[in-house]
Amino acid sequence: MTRQRYHIRTFGCQMNIADSQQYSSVLKNYGMEESDNASECDIVLVNTCVVRGKAEEKAISYFGELEVLRRRRPELRYILAGCLAPRVEILELKRRFPGLLFAFNPSEIDNFQNLLKKHLDNAKTSPEALACETKKDKELDLIAEDICQFKYHAFVTIVRGCEQNCTYCIVPFSRGANFSRPQDEIIHEIESRVEKGARAITLLGQSILDYGKDWSTSKSIKTIHGDEIFRNLLDSVSSQFPHIWIKFLTSHPKDFSFETVDLIASRENITRFIHLPVQSGDNSILKRMGRGHTREDYLKLTDCIANKIPDVRLSSDIIVGFPGETDESYEQSLDLIRRVRFFKVFTFQYSPRPYTPALKFSDDVPFEEKRVRLNRLIDLQNQITMECHKELEGSEIVAMVEGASRGDDDTWMARSRDEDIIIFDNHDNIKAGDIILLKIIEGKLRTLRGELIRRLY
Ligand code: SAH
Ligand code: SF4
Ligand code: F3S
Repeated sequence: MTRQRYHIRTFGCQMNIADSQQYSSVLKNYGMEESDNASECDIVLVNTCVVRGKAEEKAISYFGELEVLRRRRPELRYILAGCLAPRVEILELKRRFPGLLFAFNPSEIDNFQNLLKKHLDNAKTSPEALACETKKDKELDLIAEDICQFKYHAFVTIVRGCEQNCTYCIVPFSRGANFSRPQDEIIHEIESRVEKGARAITLLGQSILDYGKDWSTSKSIKTIHGDEIFRNLLDSVSSQFPHIWIKFLTSHPKDFSFETVDLIASRENITRFIHLPVQSGDNSILKRMGRGHTREDYLKLTDCIANKIPDVRLSSDIIVGFPGETDESYEQSLDLIRRVRFFKVFTFQYSPRPYTPALKFSDDVPFEEKRVRLNRLIDLQNQITMECHKELEGSEIVAMVEGASRGDDDTWMARSRDEDIIIFDNHDNIKAGDIILLKIIEGKLRTLRGELIRRLY
């Protein structure tokens, strides 16, 4: 009997990528087989993102594509997961997209297995689905160990949801309140990932420094600035797994403490890639964004980091064209970029989102102007990134082999503890997961070109 096939299409951030791994394991445990071709599948799980209008449009248009596939393959059904789910009126969506089996919120992730079973049973999709039920009581192994990319570099969500109320952001509405996993459960998951081959772990949370604050019922603790509970976890994890690279995303700058800077500086296995979204370089815009930090706070923090961790790779997110952003406030963002000299900046044009407090401000920067501002900012940052990469020429970097670089078997790709991406010539004795030493011979915009010195372990 042929097994049913599933395909997962993931839009959005690392949280969604990590969630997709969990969905994949559930589907596998249900007896299904993964495929990278939706047109031959019985189930397609669409993990959606709604952070900007464009992201949402992409997900919706993908449902349109699936409906086209269904003309040839009517048994194909799809599941709506991710951040669009809490927003939609399911019956209305089913009218538009008849192949939609069910939708569920990201906060229900641990209930996915039950929902899947219920809906597949109701839909009586095929006898195979029932045959697969023999597996249903098997203890779930939530590790997608056969996905090579994630075998050696595991993503572990430590806190779900977000309770920061950045006024432009829909994530708190789609992901809900914070829910922090107990420390022993996290350690246990890391242990099991390490046993299965992981050599790098990325701890994940939308506002990861809020880890553990939801354990208190006191409102003042929930909203307290700081990162003490997260720091304790980082301390434990990095000391218990001294040979594993520990990475983490995403830190809200208002909560990042100088003690955490010290901890990172003192531990060789903690990443020096620190993603610290600033969003704007202008105080009045930061205030309107509800970010809870000023430009000066941010610069004080990044100066401290640069002093204590000289090899840091700072990265950031910046929004251009937020309501009320004048030429002068925009210039402040450019100026901040020049001062901090980020390795990398993710840039976005402001996009008004449903439910968000910023809707009450008028979206007063014309689209064309947003585009011009975005492009200038990208040009400036590209120049800085290029300089940072050039400075690495001649240095030696330890990195983990990920595999063939996209579309090319002769060149391979490795990623360092600090997220440098290094392209090098393929060698027969090197395989994914190996830790190697490379000499950097050329800094490019997105990658570094390296030469293999030797395999370390
Ligand atoms: N929790 C992370 C990621 C949030 S989403 C953080 O705090 O950084 C990733 C980025 O999308 C945000 O940092 C922000 O720069 C951008 N973003 C969020 N909402 C947006 C909106 N309405 N318009 C444009 N960019 C937005
Ligand atoms: Fe959105 Fe702010 Fe939460 Fe990040 S910290 S997810 S930008 S509300
Ligand atoms: Fe998008 Fe949801 Fe992540 S809106 S950015 S997928 S948390």
